[in-house]
Amino acid sequence: MPDPILILIGTQTGNSERVADDVADALAEVGHTSLLVDMADAVPEMLEETDRLITVLCTWAEGTFPDNAVEFYDSLVALAPDLSHLAYGTIGLGDHLYDPYFLTAAYRLEDRLDTLGATRALPIFEIDKGPSAEDLDGAQAWALRCAEAFERVRTKMG
Ligand SMILES: Cc1cc2nc3c(=O)[nH]c(=O)nc-3n(C[C@H](O)[C@H](O)[C@H](O)COP(=O)(O)O)c2cc1C
Repeated sequence: MPDPILILIGTQTGNSERVADDVADALAEVGHTSLLVDMADAVPEMLEETDRLITVLCTWAEGTFPDNAVEFYDSLVALAPDLSHLAYGTIGLGDHLYDPYFLTAAYRLEDRLDTLGATRALPIFEIDKGPSAEDLDGAQAWALRCAEAFERVRTKMG
């Protein structure tokens, strides 16, 4: 049984958790197990122990991280682990009402993971003002593509 896909959730009001739950369900239907972790309970060492990561993260208050993600992000910056073994994908939740801060936290996290050597398996999946039923379907379809992309990255890395 392969290791589960780690799904980290950064949320202020629960939308991201809802999306993450649906993503985990979609992955389970095609045989992938996943481990859902609230970012408040996440530590950078978890990223050293997995090679597949999906983050589901909202942006809050003019471009900042939701409260439950602040400490995780700060410790990722401070500890700067080598993530060259890690493939990841991001689902960002936000609202264009807050332009120019739309999805800023999700983009910042992606930049950080890139800086630490991780490989972006797929471009970010963006949810604006959602999640609508269509957004949830889209996130599930994106997650299946992301799982396939993880396999391609794995093959490339050998
Ligand atoms: C007070 C407040 C501030 C927000 N700030 C931003 C922001 O700066 N950028 C953005 O893209 N979305 C922003 N949003 C929109 C949220 O990211 C969006 O509602 C998201 O679905 C919340 O996800 P969550 O329920 O997982 O916390 C904000 C929403 C609220 C209520």
